[in-house]
Amino acid sequence: MSTVTDTPALANARRGFDSLEEETHLDGLPVRGELPPWLRGSLIRTGPAKWEVGDRAMNNWFDGFAMLHRFSFAGGDVSYANRFLESRAYRAARDEGRIAYSEFATDPCRSLFQRVSAMFSPKLTDNANVNLTKLGERFISMTETPIPVEFDAETLAAAGVPYEPPGQLSTAHPHMDRATKGMLNYAAKLGPRTSYRFFLLRPGSSKPEVIATKPVREPAYMHSFGLTERWLVLAEFPFVVNPPRLAFSGRPYIENYRWKPERGTRFHLFDRETGEGVGPFETEARFAFHHVNSYEEGGDVVVDICTFPDAGIVEDLYMERLRAGKPVTPGFLERFRISPEAGMVSSERLIDESIELPRINYSRCNERPYRYAWGVGMGGGWIDRIVKADVVERRSTVWSEEGCFPGEPVFVAAPDADDEDEGVLLSVVLDGRAGNSFLLALDARSLNELARAEVPHHIPFGFHGQFARG
Ligand code: CO
Repeated sequence: MSTVTDTPALANARRGFDSLEEETHLDGLPVRGELPPWLRGSLIRTGPAKWEVGDRAMNNWFDGFAMLHRFSFAGGDVSYANRFLESRAYRAARDEGRIAYSEFATDPCRSLFQRVSAMFSPKLTDNANVNLTKLGERFISMTETPIPVEFDAETLAAAGVPYEPPGQLSTAHPHMDRATKGMLNYAAKLGPRTSYRFFLLRPGSSKPEVIATKPVREPAYMHSFGLTERWLVLAEFPFVVNPPRLAFSGRPYIENYRWKPERGTRFHLFDRETGEGVGPFETEARFAFHHVNSYEEGGDVVVDICTFPDAGIVEDLYMERLRAGKPVTPGFLERFRISPEAGMVSSERLIDESIELPRINYSRCNERPYRYAWGVGMGGGWIDRIVKADVVERRSTVWSEEGCFPGEPVFVAAPDADDEDEGVLLSVVLDGRAGNSFLLALDARSLNELARAEVPHHIPFGFHGQFARG
């Protein structure tokens, strides 16, 4: 890992790691500029917003209690509401003043006896602070460990557990199955015979159907997966866990994973129809959270991922380091081309700018050849720009403003759009100098600003969100 030094430019970003306690509803936010009249609906985002409980503090950015934020758009007006996701984990902390469930890198204080009993009856967290999705008419907030929480998009009130994944670990990055309109996701079933699994949840159903499975001794950390018209794409990075460690080590969840670069990166493909697996196809060690897109080209499978050289990024995201302004390792857009016939994988970096929290024109381009991805990039050690990647011409466009730190940019296609990048890009930006946040709307093609709407307070840095048309 590289040597770390304080970066003065990051001082303004620290506000984004301060907890936000207030739950509010604000109509008629001041809007500067002009939003497209067709923009109707809500950008709903989830992310950690509170890292302290009683006299304890959470360890990692990923650990904070989930807050839902909703920006609603109608006739050029913008309103905002936020509310903590009332998960069991959050309610226990609020009502009892203690951390009661295991989070990503923070555990409750437990005796050895409690740890062993937790193995047989795990108190898995439902602090769904990573992403959300719409399943039929239901909104669901998701995390990895693995309990999702349904919520009401109007009141942002939690409404129970919509389904239970077939395993103890899952991802917060499901894919939409075009054929059934259901949700495809990954799960790891831990036990004497640990396996990777993919499952389909049909609209309206609460019973996941396992559609592919593969035994594994030491499962890799999995944040997302790829999808082509034919294949489910599992990228197995060498950040792996020996399952009994999760029960017996006494360490928080993620600290049981080990970086084993000698294993390399292994791609597994599973036929979506038959569940049959091919691979592994091996290449050098990498680490990643986010697939960008995958598709088939000739006999090859093209898999675009935001990669890091190693799993050190997880350590970069500990709160102590972030609040001290230590720089975070940037990720880059890398294309892997798998040739199943030849049993080969090649890789290349697509653009020079760093990029993370990637989004595409999903409904049009997922599983298919595409041209554009939008994400955030880093200059001085923390996210400070919005990046548009043209993966065909291999070039990028950037939006940035001094002292400002944007979150994941969400693409919203214009109605009846002809072009892939015709629409707006919505991002929640922290103005580190003023100490508050604003909703930024950019022209998704040029990254020129269309409008911004300020809220009076800061919004802690979050992860992912979705736009729901109204
Ligand atoms: Co993610």
